Amino acid sequence: RRAPDCTFVIFGGGGDLTKRLLLPAIYNLACANLLNETFSIVAVDWADMTTEGLRSQFRDAIDEFVARRGTAAAVLNETVWDWMMERISYLRGSFEEADTYKALGDKIGTTNAVFYLAVASRFFGTIVDQLGESGLTTEDGQFRRVIIEKPFGSDLASAKTLNARLLRTLTESQIYRIDHYLGKETVQNILALRFSNGIFEPLWNRENIDHVQITAAETVGVERRGGFYEGTGALRDMVPNHIMQLLAMTAMEAPTSFQADAVRDEKSKVLSAIHPMRPEDIVRAQYVPGNVGGEPVNGYRQEMNVAATSQTETFVAMKLRIDNWRWAGVPFYLRTGKRLTCRKTEIAIHFKHAPYALFRDTPVEKLTPNILVLHIQPTEGVTLQFSAKVPGPAVRLGGVRMKFDYSDWYTEGPTTGYETLIYDCLIGDATLFQRADNIEAGWRVVQPALDAWAKAEDPLCFYEAGTAGPRDADELLSRSGRRWLRLV
Ligand code: BG6
Repeated sequence: RRAPDCTFVIFGGGGDLTKRLLLPAIYNLACANLLNETFSIVAVDWADMTTEGLRSQFRDAIDEFVARRGTAAAVLNETVWDWMMERISYLRGSFEEADTYKALGDKIGTTNAVFYLAVASRFFGTIVDQLGESGLTTEDGQFRRVIIEKPFGSDLASAKTLNARLLRTLTESQIYRIDHYLGKETVQNILALRFSNGIFEPLWNRENIDHVQITAAETVGVERRGGFYEGTGALRDMVPNHIMQLLAMTAMEAPTSFQADAVRDEKSKVLSAIHPMRPEDIVRAQYVPGNVGGEPVNGYRQEMNVAATSQTETFVAMKLRIDNWRWAGVPFYLRTGKRLTCRKTEIAIHFKHAPYALFRDTPVEKLTPNILVLHIQPTEGVTLQFSAKVPGPAVRLGGVRMKFDYSDWYTEGPTTGYETLIYDCLIGDATLFQRADNIEAGWRVVQPALDAWAKAEDPLCFYEAGTAGPRDADELLSRSGRRWLRLV
């Protein structure tokens, strides 16, 4: 069904996020005929630009996006683009001045509106305050919603302060805190896999699962974001948000329904059951020069806007425990980093060994472990690894893999992941957005590590760019006889 009528206001409308992700997502929604006839976009930014100039920049961005699909059918749909173009306007103004909001109010009138904050996080509070002071967040028959990007705070205290500030102006139901991982099909599929099949859930507990590994590996470095990344690091950038969402989807109990609050209640419960991190269960590391994809690349300290003595981590690995009945005694190992050997996001559920080996020549510990891997990206699918008899007269066992690949079953074109999120906000479905307590629970998990690092003098280790990360990360598992799945 089509979304209701809405003025979609993008603060930071001239910025990178808007061009790379938001606009292509809105274009895809328009192609799917999911936007209302009266839908319009107001891009607010401080740069000296006209509506015409902005439209032409957007056109280039969409062209590039469509071309990136790389298929023969990758041509821009001119009818859709013309439809969209007429609906885009530019408003030049400072995010800090009341005049901007007055002009915005004139444009919006009494329509429904979504305010998308695609701006640096220091503006989040200011923009919401200003929207409130100018009466633009008041709902009087129409809806007024605010979408907030990450980073949402830089630690538990600042996330709480920001939540409190937003809630002075907005009700919780008006706030849509984005985590773009929740827009990914394969992330949403975690719940579908667990709760729409009869065979997985009975095994999904401490009786059958030995441990869980969550990996979010990237080959890119910090690119041009050194200035941002220096004060952020891999832990803050990826763990309290994206990785905690993956963990919550994997470990939560079944919600009573798929209503936003039922899902978010269960996420909150599992996140708040995570045992406080112990500093010895965390490894932080930074990349030094190496080779990625056959090309020599800089170390982190040589990147643009990065200090030559930087102590910022670009990799982090950790062991977590969840204190509840389902997961008691099952470690969750998480790792994420930049400039690793391959790009791969996956969740691997390692099951316990068979209790007894019938096969004389293959002792239990040599049996191929049963591992269910949920592949989030770049390949999207699920694999199950198990033991099978190697053909031949001798009884020998080998490891085999059963594989489901999305692309074998579905031919849907690639999306940015933002389509679902924007559409859900337009129809008022907050299931895939984070509630205040979810965000704070994520920060609560990592806060002990942030505190420990703030005190330690040099708790950093190093790994060569293009490798699987530092050796210390392997030791985190080998201490208990376990191993990371290989990054290839
Ligand atoms: C962003 C981080 O939130 O997620 C980036 O700020 C990271 O540093 C990105 O590269 C990863 O997203 P994806 O969708 O490429 O896995």
